[in-house]
Amino acid sequence: MRLIDPRGAGQGASRASAGMLAPRIEGHSVALLQLGLASLDLYDNFVARVVADSQRRVEYRRTGTLQVALTDDEARRLEEQHHALTRAAVAHSWLDAAAVRRLEPSLTDAVVAGLLIPGHGYVGVATLISALSDAAGRLGASLSSTEVREVSSASGGVRIDTSDGALTSDVVVLAAGSWSGGIPMGSTPSPPVRPVRGQLLQLRFERPPLSHVVWGGLGYLVPWEDGRLLVGATVEDVGFDEGVTIDGLQQLLACAQTLLPAAESARCDGARAGLRPATPDELPIIGASSTMPGVYYATGHYRNGVLLAPLTAVMIAELVLDGRERAESVLVQPARFGL
Ligand code: GLY
Repeated sequence: MRLIDPRGAGQGASRASAGMLAPRIEGHSVALLQLGLASLDLYDNFVARVVADSQRRVEYRRTGTLQVALTDDEARRLEEQHHALTRAAVAHSWLDAAAVRRLEPSLTDAVVAGLLIPGHGYVGVATLISALSDAAGRLGASLSSTEVREVSSASGGVRIDTSDGALTSDVVVLAAGSWSGGIPMGSTPSPPVRPVRGQLLQLRFERPPLSHVVWGGLGYLVPWEDGRLLVGATVEDVGFDEGVTIDGLQQLLACAQTLLPAAESARCDGARAGLRPATPDELPIIGASSTMPGVYYATGHYRNGVLLAPLTAVMIAELVLDGRERAESVLVQPARFGL
């Protein structure tokens, strides 16, 4: 197997990811929620297998998420979510201001209510990507940094023209994120993905200031074990611009300082931006091409690529190796975009 990526592993949408695993917060549609929950169910085994195959450590914790309301309006919306979770029999706790403070004493006094969902968590994206790259290498994959110029049908398989010559393969999986639309594929239309920039800020504390992923009206905070805290994220329609901006940083600083007063004395540990691949219906494109035999798509994961990684991997592997489609396939068919 050959992985062709001129940018190197993890240098696309992953740069916009804080690794949050929170489908009950980020599942903005019934379909996305179904995909997110199915993938979260696979996460324990996925991480265990990547760790075993790579012999590397992956930071992965199901700390739970704590959504907080700072205004009565936010509290009302959170309470509706609490009632919906109760109806769906999802494990969670509704917390008043005092209970939030007992759980997370560093949070602002302005918190009026909170919603704790213990099944959620986060994964350290950089540690996951290094482990995945190493595991792939140990299992025989090679990583090449050439550029793909065209994918076309050829006798005996699929032809891939690269900046370093042509290859032929039985199977090609197009997983180029925001850049998926830029690869010519004969008469097959390009995947309709557009880049949506996400900027993230990294702060450093002497010890972790929080023990849960915290989500507020302006963004979210993801506390790592070593005292680093990721603050995310902007959502910007600015084309293929991967810059970090003053505007973006101000938004992230406001989020951190509003939720966590101690952020004022934290060390700034860097900032980054990545491009999330958004599709018109904000659902990924996963499955076999309906027009080009041997071509498969695994792209367009928008804000949920890290969460949906295990499900995407299983769906593509089962389809390519056994011709089996999982139930979730109907939600993400390439054919809905003429692909
Ligand atoms: N999944 C988090 C984000 O896209 O900001």
